[in-house]
Amino acid sequence: MKKDLLKMLDLTGEEILEILDLADQLKYNQRHGIPHTYLQGKTLAMIFEKNSTRTRVSFETGMFQLGGHALFLSGKESQIGRGEPIEDTARVLSRYCDGIMIRTFGQEEVEKLAQYASIPVINGLTDFAHPCQVLADLMTVREHLAHLDGLKLCFIGDGNNMANSLIVGGLKVGMEVAVACPKGYEPDQQVLDFAASVDGGSRFTLTTDVFEAAKGADVIFTDVWASMGQEEERARRIRDFQGFQVNAALMAVAKPGCLVQHCLPAHRGEEITAEVFEAHAGEIFEEAENRLHAQKAVMVLLMGKQPD
Ligand code: CP
Ligand code: NVA
Repeated sequence: MKKDLLKMLDLTGEEILEILDLADQLKYNQRHGIPHTYLQGKTLAMIFEKNSTRTRVSFETGMFQLGGHALFLSGKESQIGRGEPIEDTARVLSRYCDGIMIRTFGQEEVEKLAQYASIPVINGLTDFAHPCQVLADLMTVREHLAHLDGLKLCFIGDGNNMANSLIVGGLKVGMEVAVACPKGYEPDQQVLDFAASVDGGSRFTLTTDVFEAAKGADVIFTDVWASMGQEEERARRIRDFQGFQVNAALMAVAKPGCLVQHCLPAHRGEEITAEVFEAHAGEIFEEAENRLHAQKAVMVLLMGKQPD
């Protein structure tokens, strides 16, 4: 049966680590010029109904490096933008391509696409989830700190797609997860229910106190206060998120050497200060690079045959 990557909730901890192990190997191969054309002759359709820099470039480049081809379909310019049902798009693309990556608004659209497609579907971001990003994030943390289990992951900001995916991904690989967000901006209830079910909720904290969440953290994540599609709420969100910023005072309560991660794009002076961003630019851009390697691993595992 074909497999998809729709959300972190669908993966086991073992599956996440298997993806990260392959991603490490593919990164090594790419860095050392070792051929890894595991998807020769295969095509990935990439549907974008929201903007992107990293996701588009890393998937397209990744497919090329794996010996395959990626094609870009903008929601607006394809028939999707004129209302062709996702069920029909799924069945048409399944006749031409070997995989579909989709970035859109509702998670239900991605789930429906996967249900009707006979080829693997990869979620390149919805309002609910951003699994490809979180795989790259966990890969980066593991590269720096050598392991994941037992580490404290902190997320400061909006209970959005990133928060939802980090909570689930972090808990599945054995991390302690602490989230600070303003009242009314909590993560999705499905994610909170999952967090409460893992070890009786003992590894998860949800608070409005940023210092409580960041205390002793090994890695601090943040993301924009207004995500794509929330542009009209921007002014209200800027008011509501005051204090939910990764800055020097917050870093002072974290573990010495604490990493900072940001999925990007970043708004300096809002969710993160320019000072903290630049001090941690090395690991933040490593995180961006790791999108390429992590997604290549996902594509090989879903669309190709695994390397020996
Ligand atoms: N982090 C991320 O998904 O970036 P893009 O929106 O540029 O793809
Ligand atoms: N939460 C952000 C992530 C961007 C990569 C958004 O959805 O716009």
